Amino acid sequence: MRLAVLLLMVMLGACGPKGATGPGAGSAAAPKTLYDRLGGRDALIGLVEDFLANVAADRRIAPFFQGVDTQGLRQKLVDQLCELAGGPCKYTGRDMRTMHDGMAIKPEHWDAFVEDLKRSLEKFKVAEPEAKDLLAIVEAMRDQIVGAK
Ligand code: HEM
Repeated sequence: MRLAVLLLMVMLGACGPKGATGPGAGSAAAPKTLYDRLGGRDALIGLVEDFLANVAADRRIAPFFQGVDTQGLRQKLVDQLCELAGGPCKYTGRDMRTMHDGMAIKPEHWDAFVEDLKRSLEKFKVAEPEAKDLLAIVEAMRDQIVGAK
């Protein structure tokens, strides 16, 4: 009888829940970055391209961008947003305050800029949580850009 109990215990031990080294260990996926959730680099390039087209067609702020190298700007913006969203990019442009200093960007210009971005997010049907997170990244830069002399 004691032998049967012992055998049962050994069997239960062998089939019981796996320890930390079992095959299931570490299978909980690491949380995805915003960059991944947005769809990676191609998705970000598409979004930024569409957004810059909105900006260029927006009479409220288009004059700021006249004569600007839009290809270069697109590249910098993609790298910047990619990096800030946790993607594998490195932004090499100027810091936001230095870049926008002297442009006299006012709150109404800012609002137009964000509105243009929201239109692209809607057009590409970016889901609410991802849109919210990207807009939060952008919003965090507001004070460095608006009201810079
Ligand atoms: C969070 C919002 C914004 C971000 C992330 C952003 C980002 C950038 C970046 C990365 C550059 C290029 C930096 C470089 O070449 O080193 C840039 C340039 C520029 N930004 Fe912004 N920007 C923002 C808001 C605005 C707004 C609201 C305006 C105007 C309404 C504006 C106007 C410009 C212009 C005109 C340039 C190009 C200047 C030039 O090349 O001579 N930006 N911005």
